[in-house]
Amino acid sequence: MQLRDSIKKALKDNNALLVAHYYVSADLQILAEETGGVVSDSLEMARFGQNCDADTIVVAGVKFMGETAKILSPEKRVLVLDEAATCSLDLSCPIDEFSLFCDAHPDHTVVVYANTSAAVKARADWVVTSGSALKVVKSLHEEGKKILWAPDKHLGHYVGAETGADMLMWDGSCVVHEAFKAEGLERLMQKLPDAAVLVHPESPKEVVALADVVGSTTALINAVATMDNDTFIVATDNGIFHKMREVAPGKKLIEAPTMGEGADCESCAHCDWMAMNSLEKCLSVLETGNNEITIDEEVIDKAKSSIHRLLEFTQ
Ligand code: 13P
Ligand code: SF4
Repeated sequence: MQLRDSIKKALKDNNALLVAHYYVSADLQILAEETGGVVSDSLEMARFGQNCDADTIVVAGVKFMGETAKILSPEKRVLVLDEAATCSLDLSCPIDEFSLFCDAHPDHTVVVYANTSAAVKARADWVVTSGSALKVVKSLHEEGKKILWAPDKHLGHYVGAETGADMLMWDGSCVVHEAFKAEGLERLMQKLPDAAVLVHPESPKEVVALADVVGSTTALINAVATMDNDTFIVATDNGIFHKMREVAPGKKLIEAPTMGEGADCESCAHCDWMAMNSLEKCLSVLETGNNEITIDEEVIDKAKSSIHRLLEFTQ
């Protein structure tokens, strides 16, 4: 209790707000909401950070979420809880290689997922999130544009299949969602025929094909809250269960299988980088000012316009 009280005081003293993703621990999510911050998907995290009037934004999530907050609010101080908390998608897409890929295809509109570095966002025409990718690409496709897509090939495949857009694909993936296995999921579905299957689109296409609902973290939480089913099989990071239990306390939530039969870990979808966030680190960054996000001004200016396009489009 003392730790939580100390963080609350430090947030107040710094005129700071805590912005948390659904995948971080329940104690951080609860604290964010209790102190006027927010718990949300990556799109709403970005929007909240931009619209709030705090001097400091403390981001409980991964590095790209802190960078997005800084790009949208360069005048604010943005702190992340652990500088080493990154994302396999971000790591898979280094700016130099990505820039060469873009240079080789100048006739394509460059659309990148939010899970990328500030420099990659600065090289893009559009930034999208899982909650907005379908609509943005559909609209670009209707304008006759060819798309260069990075970095998540699974999300890219899903968006391409749904929209029919002409998409050149970067070869990146999320290590957490890629572990979901269609075979194991099918077996579970046979045992639980009345369960609804909820899948984040970073999952492989064979898993997406089995879904009743495919969507962003927010869309999956809304599905649990609004669908009539009593049981849900959920293929995304298990940090999301905290919010799902809160919005639908009576419902049965089951993790989709990852490693499959005979493996040590049947259901263990949790992002190691998200797990690096903790209450202790939250207090520490507020007290020391460590882990401040800094980004080159030129990069901020370029990245800002591609994120603004998204925010205006999804308004
Ligand atoms: P959402 O935008 O759906 O919250 O996804 C972010 C993420 O990192 C999923 O792995
Ligand atoms: Fe990145 Fe996957 Fe972790 Fe999300 S769950 S932050 S996409 S590695």
